[in-house]
Amino acid sequence: MSLNPTIPGYTYGTSAVPGAAISMEEFELLKKTVLFGEEDVKALQQSKTMVKDQVEAILDVWYGFVGSNPHLVSTFLRVADGQPDMEYLGAVRKRFGRWILDTAGGSYDQAWLDYQFEIGRRHHRVGKNMTDKVAAAPHIPFRYLPALLYPVTATLRPFLAKQGHSEAEVSAMHQAWIKSVLLQVILWSYPYVKEGDF
Ligand code: HEM
Repeated sequence: MSLNPTIPGYTYGTSAVPGAAISMEEFELLKKTVLFGEEDVKALQQSKTMVKDQVEAILDVWYGFVGSNPHLVSTFLRVADGQPDMEYLGAVRKRFGRWILDTAGGSYDQAWLDYQFEIGRRHHRVGKNMTDKVAAAPHIPFRYLPALLYPVTATLRPFLAKQGHSEAEVSAMHQAWIKSVLLQVILWSYPYVKEGDF
């Protein structure tokens, strides 16, 4: 079942996505390791009521950060002329927007787990550029993936605080987001890790 067939390249839940490289049981142990539990799922779902109305504003902040850092935006440049591929940026932005909702949805089932490995491949040379059929930079260096966790989650916090929730609620939502993005970046690392070492 495709969760949103109208977003080009968003294959979450479809048979186009190969199975995850780890089992659900192994994923459970990973969740346990980052202290991600049911209360985090609830906090993420609470955050969804806020982030769903602010997706474009959140993306403006994140894209602004990537766009103002030449070493990051370089991954969106066409190899041929070194110019940003605006169609590529736009297509990825749509899937990124959907990712905000999927992350906040907190439904981390088998289809979700499978898609995390797909997102990992899309950052690595094994799969980058293929979804949008572009000839942009071929690879994203691994070191920037965990690094981006910090600005992404730090800049999200003000959006979680906009609807008058208590400090404790905002903090719980923010911590849940940090844990979820950490889990995802770990799963996305799979193609970067030497075979047998993940
Ligand atoms: C916490 C770290 C990161 C998050 C949360 C994140 C999130 C995402 C998401 C949700 C997508 C779309 C996935 C899909 O196709 O459904 C994506 C794609 C992409 N991201 Fe990231 N990303 C991170 C790190 C980075 C870094 C460090 C760079 C560049 C330096 C980067 C550049 C890109 C590019 C170029 C694509 C398109 C890949 C393709 O060709 O399909 N991302 N990212």
